[in-house]
Amino acid sequence: MAYETILTETRGKVGLITLNRPQALNAINSGLTRDVLAALQAFEADTTIGCIVITGSEKAFAAGADIKEMQSRSFVQSYLDDFFAEWDAMLRVRKPIIAAVSGYALGGGCELAMACDFIIASDTAKFGQPEITLGVMPGMGGSQRLTRFVGKSKAMDMCLTGRMMDAAEAERSGLVSRVVPAGELLEEALKAADKIASFSLPAVMMNKEAVNRSYEVSLSEGLRFERRVFHSMFALEDQKEGMSAFSEKRKPSFNNR
Ligand code: HXC
Repeated sequence: MAYETILTETRGKVGLITLNRPQALNAINSGLTRDVLAALQAFEADTTIGCIVITGSEKAFAAGADIKEMQSRSFVQSYLDDFFAEWDAMLRVRKPIIAAVSGYALGGGCELAMACDFIIASDTAKFGQPEITLGVMPGMGGSQRLTRFVGKSKAMDMCLTGRMMDAAEAERSGLVSRVVPAGELLEEALKAADKIASFSLPAVMMNKEAVNRSYEVSLSEGLRFERRVFHSMFALEDQKEGMSAFSEKRKPSFNNR
């Protein structure tokens, strides 16, 4: 499929999506939305792919929703077409998605990174929800996900002042899983993705589903869900293979069954 706003490639078992609107610092317009969601769905359907990485440029992961495309929108148009609801499709991607963030991840860019399963940041990364400076608020999950990830005080600070958080603060706050030197970002993200893709795909997907469940249900329901899914894993050939390989002191060979 031909994309206009992104580049896609496969690196072994990893699907890589590179946001590519350099003239607008990868601002998220309708074309980029369509392209990213189509690419995610294509990698989801590709049985050779075990993990997906989304990255941007050195200067910007994405500097937000496209302000120029949005500025003349009306309320009724936004309500009727449920503006930005199409991104809910990302929640239905069951393979893991890593955000590799360098430079600006602002507004919708920060929200896109947070909609991924985890964020690896370069030491130049800057996160922010500056919508307040435009007279609006986050609309792609920022007020909810940022609050869950970094807590109320920091989320309020970010949303109400519009200030940016650097990579060190983002790591300290739990927004990102690790910070790496700028020149090594993609390599490190691909290495992590490659590792994930080397494991049993059903086991990886069940892990993702269980962690995500913790954001939706009470602790007791979450623990019950975890235990049921954990029990079901003993039906996997990959469980037998993984545990036999450990006992036999050899590397496992998973078959995604
Ligand atoms: C459209 C954008 C853009 C954006 C940058 N550009 N961000 N275009 N939408 N979000 C464009 C600029 O207009 C400019 O185009 C080019 O990209 C380069 O940007 P500069 O501003 O010249 O770069 P710089 O001076 O380095 O400043 C970088 C920056 C700044 C600090 C990131 O661009 C900035 O503040 N951008 C807006 C960030 C923001 O407010 N994001 C939140 C958007 S609202 P030209 O043609 O002039 O060269 C949002 C809502 C999400 O995300 C919720 C859904 C409803």
